[in-house]
Amino acid sequence: EFQEKREYLRVNRLAAKYYNHCLLHTREGSKAMEYIKERGLTAETVEKFYLGYAPPSWDGLIKFAHFEGVKIDTLEKIGLIIPRKDNKGYYDRFRNRLMFPIEDVTKNIIGFGGRALDESMPKYLNTPETPLFSKGDNLYALSMIKKDPALDTIVVEGYMDCITLHQYGFNQSVASLGTALTKNQARLLKKYTDGVILSYDADEAGKAATMRGIDILAQEGLRVKVLNMPNGKDPDEVIKTYGPQHFQKLLTDSMDFISYKLFLAKKDINIQTHDGKLKFIKRAVDILTGVDNEPELELYAKKLASELGISVQAIKKEVQRRKL
Ligand code: CTP
Ligand code: MN
Ligand code: MN
Ligand code: MN
Ligand code: MN
Repeated sequence: EFQEKREYLRVNRLAAKYYNHCLLHTREGSKAMEYIKERGLTAETVEKFYLGYAPPSWDGLIKFAHFEGVKIDTLEKIGLIIPRKDNKGYYDRFRNRLMFPIEDVTKNIIGFGGRALDESMPKYLNTPETPLFSKGDNLYALSMIKKDPALDTIVVEGYMDCITLHQYGFNQSVASLGTALTKNQARLLKKYTDGVILSYDADEAGKAATMRGIDILAQEGLRVKVLNMPNGKDPDEVIKTYGPQHFQKLLTDSMDFISYKLFLAKKDINIQTHDGKLKFIKRAVDILTGVDNEPELELYAKKLASELGISVQAIKKEVQRRKL
C-alpha cells in the first residue's frame, strides 16, 4: 500500500507538470495565461503555486500518461480520469480548466482544483475522494505558511483569494476549499498557529460558514478573529478593488469572535427602543455564555452595560443563570 501511494503521488506530480507545461508552452494554454493575467496574477505566482492548464481535449492527460508508462488504473484511482458510461475506456476529468495543484503539509501533491475559464458549470471542479485526497482533511497552501504561533493565520474560502493574498505579501494565508471548515482542518491549523483570522466571502454562504467556523476553531483552542469584509466581496476582490493596504487595514481592524457575534446580533435591532434592548440583551447573553474566562466576561459585560444603560451585575447574573 505504501508503494501504491508513492506511485499515486508520483503520477499526481507528473500530471501537475503536464498541466503546467500546457499552460506555459502550448497555444491553447495562452488563453488560460491571458485569463491569469486578467486576474492580476504574476508569472512568479504561477510558478510558486505551480498553476497549470488542462486542455479541452478528452484524452490529453491519458495520452501523456500513456507515453510516460503510467497505468490507466492509477489515473482512475487518483481521480484524474473517469470511466466512460459504456465502460469502453476513459476520459480526462479536468478539461479546459485552470489547474491548482493541492499539496499536503509535506508538499506532496494530493489532488487538484480546476477552475472553468468560461461560464461552464461547475465553476470549480475538485479531485473527488481518493486514497490521497479527502477535502475536509486538508487546507490549501498550508505547506507554505510559517509554523509560528505568534503569527495569525488568515483563513479564506477560495484558491484565488489565497493566491492573491500570497502575491501581495500576506504569506500566512490558507484556504479551507469551499465554505465548510471541518474539525480536522481546525486540528491541522492548531499545529501551525494559535490564532486565526477568518476572512470568508461576505455573501450569505460565507457568513453562515463564518458562524460555524468560529465555533469549530474555538473548540480546538484557537484564538479566533473575524475580518469584516465589505458586503458581497471576497479577499481577492477587496485587494483588486481597494488595494492591499485596505486589506491590511481590515486585518488590523478584525474583531475577536465574541465582539463579531455581538456586532451581528445588534445589526437588525434598534436598541434605542425598549423591545429592541430586551431582544438584544437576550441574544448578547446567549453569546456571552461562550466566554468561560471571568475577566474577559467582565470586559464584555461592562461594554454592553454602558451601551444599554443597565448594570454590569444584571448582565453577569443573567449569563451565570443561562449557563446552568
Ligand atoms: N468551490 C468548489 N466548488 C464549487 C464552487 C466553489 O469547490 N463549485 C470552492 C473552491 O475552493 C472555491 C471556493 O469554494 O475557490 C470559493 O468559492 P467561490 O467564492 O464561489 O469562488 P471564488 O474562489 O471567489 O472564485 P473566483 O474568484 O475564481 O470566481
Ligand atoms: Mn515545458
Ligand atoms: Mn463564495
Ligand atoms: Mn469568492
Ligand atoms: Mn473570487
